[in-house]
Amino acid sequence: MDTPPEHLRNGDVELRRWQAGDAELCLRLVSESIDHLSPWMPWATSGYDLATAEDFVQRGVADWTAGTAFNYLILTAGQPAGGAGLHARIDPGGLEIGYWVHPAHTGRGVATAAAGALTEAALALPGINHVEIHHDELNLASERVPVKLGYTHVDTRPETRFDHAPGDSGVSKVWRITR
Ligand SMILES: CC(C)(COP(=O)(O)OP(=O)(O)OC[C@H]1O[C@@H](n2cnc3c(N)ncnc32)[C@H](O)[C@@H]1OP(=O)(O)O)[C@@H](O)C(=O)NCCC(=O)NCCS
Repeated sequence: MDTPPEHLRNGDVELRRWQAGDAELCLRLVSESIDHLSPWMPWATSGYDLATAEDFVQRGVADWTAGTAFNYLILTAGQPAGGAGLHARIDPGGLEIGYWVHPAHTGRGVATAAAGALTEAALALPGINHVEIHHDELNLASERVPVKLGYTHVDTRPETRFDHAPGDSGVSKVWRITR
């Protein structure tokens, strides 16, 4: 199984694979971001606690080994600033990018830089020829990321894969870039 690099960099934005021992850091970042994440991320609820963060980090180790997901901590100028990842949950030959950014670091291109680095890493993997970004059609900040990276809008469809978050319309826009 080919895997992407454990560290990626794009200008001031760095991504490093979540590591065992990161649960408290993950909990702090998510807790500080919860009001900003909860409209759009179904997992970001008031019940997010240390056990949830520990489970996320531990599952991340198993997912990385299995090649089903490659999740990273985002840092900007060395400061933890969010999370992003590549997910093997679309068709074969494709990976999907997900991202979130701590509200202290939004509006400065962090998500776009992180998704740009992930796009390049994904397309460098043998057998991967396209990358997708899916977001709810009401999530206009998220939409800017694939637009700025030159992705093409390929579909708008009901989101049936996940529970909906409170801000979601339930209809996702799908953006794709091909090698
Ligand atoms: C979506 C998110 C990851 C963007 O992170 P970011 O680092 O601020 O992203 P960038 O700075 O790279 O780009 C954000 C763009 O959205 C724009 N934007 C921000 N809020 C907006 C809004 N309410 N309506 C429209 N555009 C908005 C910004 O102006 C910027 O576009 P521009 O560069 O053309 O001016 C961040 O807002 C976030 O974590 N949101 C909550 C979680 C989430 O929605 N994750 C994505 C799920 S698909």
